[in-house]
Amino acid sequence: MNLEALLAARLAVALEAVAGEPVDPVVRASQHADFQSGAALALARRLGRPPREIAAEVAARADLEGLAEVAISGPGFLNLTVADEVLVSLLAEPDSPPPVGPARVVIDYSGPNVAKELHVGHLRSTIIGDALARLLSWAGHDVVRVNHLGDWGTQFGMLIEQMADLGGPAGELSLGDLTGFYQQARLKFDTDDDFRTRARLRVVALQSGDEPSRAMWQRLVDQSERHFVADYERLGITLGRGDFAGESSYQDQLASIVDELSGKGLIVESEGALCVFPAGFTGRDGEPLPLIVRKSDGGFGYAATDLAALRHRALDLKADQLLYVVGAPQSTHFRMLFAVGRDAGWLTRAMPEHIGFGSVLGPDGKMLRTRSGGTVKLADLLDEADARATSPAVGIGAIKYADLSSDRRSDYVFDWDRMLAATGNTGPYLQYAVARIRSVLARAAHAPGPVVLDDPAERRLALTLLGFQPAAAAAIEHREPHRLAVHLHEVAVAFSAFYEKCPILSSPSRLGLTARTGRTLRLGLDLLGIPVPERM
Ligand code: ARG
Repeated sequence: MNLEALLAARLAVALEAVAGEPVDPVVRASQHADFQSGAALALARRLGRPPREIAAEVAARADLEGLAEVAISGPGFLNLTVADEVLVSLLAEPDSPPPVGPARVVIDYSGPNVAKELHVGHLRSTIIGDALARLLSWAGHDVVRVNHLGDWGTQFGMLIEQMADLGGPAGELSLGDLTGFYQQARLKFDTDDDFRTRARLRVVALQSGDEPSRAMWQRLVDQSERHFVADYERLGITLGRGDFAGESSYQDQLASIVDELSGKGLIVESEGALCVFPAGFTGRDGEPLPLIVRKSDGGFGYAATDLAALRHRALDLKADQLLYVVGAPQSTHFRMLFAVGRDAGWLTRAMPEHIGFGSVLGPDGKMLRTRSGGTVKLADLLDEADARATSPAVGIGAIKYADLSSDRRSDYVFDWDRMLAATGNTGPYLQYAVARIRSVLARAAHAPGPVVLDDPAERRLALTLLGFQPAAAAAIEHREPHRLAVHLHEVAVAFSAFYEKCPILSSPSRLGLTARTGRTLRLGLDLLGIPVPERM
């Protein structure tokens, strides 16, 4: 049950009676009381009457009997203090998801590229996307996870040619180090004319369905997928083999995308390429920006595949919401893609959203790089986490929590010391709170009993716990996992204050409150995908 929503509903009735029309009750948690509403102030301004007078009228009309005490404070705030019995009875109910109209949500996240190991650039998409997928499923949505693997394009010419040089699909391959494989192919492509020519011919062969080329390509894709799934398992990411729908899976739809868009009069030929120019997009030079559907050499690129994927998800999968968890630099690409999707009439049901995010920075404030200046590989990062932390769960929890607890739109600094710290808004701090709760409950002489609120620290903890559902609802609505993460941290802080102040072991009520806190923290961490170690 959502206490905030309950209070808001009661105030809304009173406000409407005073105003003669609906008024937003703006109920917020507050330092001065349990909750506070500033609605009377805004209403008074509109009606041109003294705010405290309006506040008094609203307070007198509000049906808060048995629920809360109301007092007028300052210039006309309504301070609400919830009755202890209400807190206790709400706490007796388990945390439940916010009510939502169930929808089919397709969520596109991770999206690594074949023969390139998952690197830190894909880490945020993977972590944020997975937390959102977990939250949305818990809320009751029908969630379809899609891993838009980069498994098509001209680079496969050189990759397959490199594979052929190493002995073909049956031979021994040095694919264990996928990045090394990619770099070797790249080096040969840049320095060896013969190799470059063969690579170009190989793309043509692959795209026209040549069997041996296709088999080598498939081998590369399989190998990469296996690596990625192993990384996901290590990270506790809920993406599996069945969730891959790579760029290649849209190949047979690309010609029909061109036909459909030209049939709708959206295609313009420009310098040999087939383009769509959605309204309102111009480059730096003021020229209209194209979304390139077919390149001048006849090939299809990233935009074409994304158009096919968009149409498929909207019309075949019948999605209500289309989420793309991809870094902020691709925001123009997605805005153009969605504009074309709307112009083509594919988005009458589905609502597309680009869930952008900032970059991962090194301690120097620049993009995170290895000491030698290369991109940071995920596997190396996880190895380092294992080496630095007391257990894999702590290392992985620290990495994921550091990402999820900051606003996804901002860049964040990857700082081992800060994210592994035992105090502050960190993964280990939350994991430690859960471990401490477990050990208290294990040592207790009594079973947890019904909660009675005596001490202010108990009341503060109870009230904080009841903020779980509003926080989860906000995380879902705004696609911002940090709103839940920040709330869990508040719960852990309130628990710690309670633990310091109130002896728990001999009190069934306090053991009950402790157990209740443990359940909320576990659920919240699970929704964020943060593992909880048995002991710390
Ligand atoms: N593979 C892409 C990249 O590495 C990300 C794919 C994102 N999803 C999409 N539908 N475009 O940048």
